[in-house]
Amino acid sequence: MSHIPSSISERVTIPILGRWKKEGRRLAMTTAYDAVSARIADPLVDILLVGDSVGNVCLGLENTLPVSMAMMSHHLEAVARTRHRALLVADMPFLSFHLSAEDTIRNAGGFLQRGADAVKLEGGAKRVQMIRALVDCEIPVMGHLGFTPQSVTVMGGYKVQGRTAADALRLLEDAYSLQEAGCFALVLEGIPAELAARATETLAIPTIGIGAGPSCSGQVLVFHDVLGLTKGHRPKFVRAYAEGFGILQDALPRWAADVRDGSFPGADESYQLPHDCGEAIARWTPSGPK
Ligand code: KIV
Repeated sequence: MSHIPSSISERVTIPILGRWKKEGRRLAMTTAYDAVSARIADPLVDILLVGDSVGNVCLGLENTLPVSMAMMSHHLEAVARTRHRALLVADMPFLSFHLSAEDTIRNAGGFLQRGADAVKLEGGAKRVQMIRALVDCEIPVMGHLGFTPQSVTVMGGYKVQGRTAADALRLLEDAYSLQEAGCFALVLEGIPAELAARATETLAIPTIGIGAGPSCSGQVLVFHDVLGLTKGHRPKFVRAYAEGFGILQDALPRWAADVRDGSFPGADESYQLPHDCGEAIARWTPSGPK
């Protein structure tokens, strides 16, 4: 049985997301870092994010801070070649939107030229000037508030944000500033559910939660988390719908065992010569060095 609503076949655009917010339709967003994840997720979700989480998820980095424009571009191009219907958002990596408006526009514009529909960048009021500069250049921007992984050092680790009245009010002010600066949607990460609910009911743009409770306009989870492809600690907000790591760990040794005992490949998995060529090569003997 298909779990895909019939109307999901239309190409997802920014105006469509605005319409869905008004209709109260929830949206699903996941990450894609390569052609395989994009091919699987593109027909099934509304937004694909080439997240800078590629750093920890795929590149073995400890956090997202070392992720560069070059790394992001490499992964974005693979996803852009594969995606057909989901809105494609590319994450602006650390230091790619901090230095000057010109540098920020060039970096974000480069992502659009590589096939992204929009960019996402982390931060609140401090980033409003850069967001306005991008929106003025027709570059759609998704905001990202709450726990922002590029601030992991300042925040002192992976910690839930907005837990005091002052922090919660600052987050609501930031959310409103980002909407007024022209963001078309907002990721809310690692904040109390009640705070995300308040932001969602007061903003006109969709909110997309991760560790932000059930009341957001949509949810985002890293592709590898949804499919259980990561190993080790699973944050509280992750629900895995498959145990992908275990499935692959079970499959690969079965293949290796078949290789070792000679049962792979079989005749059906091999190419055969025509009969007359077979006789010719059977008669052949090495002529030795000339
Ligand atoms: O990089 C990423 O994957 C993200 C999401 C978790 C929102 O920013």
